[in-house]
Amino acid sequence: MSLRLETKNALITGGASGIGRATALRFAQEGANIMVADRHLAAAEDTATQVRALGRKATAIRVDTSVEAEVAAMVARCTSELGGLDVLVAAAGISHARYGEEGTPAMGPLAEKPLTDWKKVLSVNLDGVFITDREVARAMIAAGRGGRIINIASGAAKLPTPGVGEYAVSKAGVWMLTKVLAVELAPYGITANAIGPGFIDTPMTANLKNAEGFMKRLIERVPLGRVGEPVDVANTALFLASEEGRYYTGSILHPDGGVVMQ
Ligand SMILES: NC(=O)c1ccc[n+]([C@@H]2O[C@H](COP(=O)([O-])OP(=O)(O)OC[C@H]3O[C@@H](n4cnc5c(N)ncnc54)[C@H](O)[C@@H]3O)[C@@H](O)[C@H]2O)c1
Repeated sequence: MSLRLETKNALITGGASGIGRATALRFAQEGANIMVADRHLAAAEDTATQVRALGRKATAIRVDTSVEAEVAAMVARCTSELGGLDVLVAAAGISHARYGEEGTPAMGPLAEKPLTDWKKVLSVNLDGVFITDREVARAMIAAGRGGRIINIASGAAKLPTPGVGEYAVSKAGVWMLTKVLAVELAPYGITANAIGPGFIDTPMTANLKNAEGFMKRLIERVPLGRVGEPVDVANTALFLASEEGRYYTGSILHPDGGVVMQ
């Protein structure tokens, strides 16, 4: 049986960790060559090494996805080093769960939210995804061979989650961004879809896992009775990137054990 992403080239932002890394490895198992992009180059190189161990081509690149010039250079390297781009998975993002790391803001009600915290989260989670999608769309349109854009949003795009208002707004923005792109890019054979995961066990959520009683309360709200693994999201991205996902555009899929539907 042929592999599902044989001969495809994929760019994965946030590819140094968690969902992005799992997606890079899952795509490589299915034959894809990968550009692993992240603000942490050493960890991105670890992912690239693991991809190469699976027999695929991989390049790691340092990028801050909220900086236009860096994103443009990243996409140009996809063309020059991989020979083009078929799939984007935009997974780079920040959340309050990583409070204290690299300027990630604290939780708090919107009535007390400093504008700087709001802007910080929006600049990475929404502006960064917009800039990445835009540069990738331009490259895909110029190449004229269609493509798949997959944005990692969150269940928080639909759930008004207290304390992390700007995160929820950023993810709702990603969801609408995806839908507008789906309409605008359809004439070029480019699909755009979002993924809205529930709670996934990654470095992003490690602090929450250790908080007293948090996991028990969380799992009580998940119909399938467990948190997600990164590969649960990677498999969703694989479906959207593969031939089987060709008639999806403007959708959001929720690998979340049944939380968002409630
Ligand atoms: N883990 C969850 O429960 C969960 C749930 C819903 C949505 N998500 C979303 O999934 C995506 C991946 O999350 P994860 O859990 O794998 O987190 P993670 O922290 O393990 O990985 C995120 C990666 O993004 C990178 N990154 C952050 N800001 C960046 C920037 N400006 N430029 C380049 N790289 C940057 C980080 O260095 C990190 O490697 C995020 O968008 C997150 O909001 C996660």
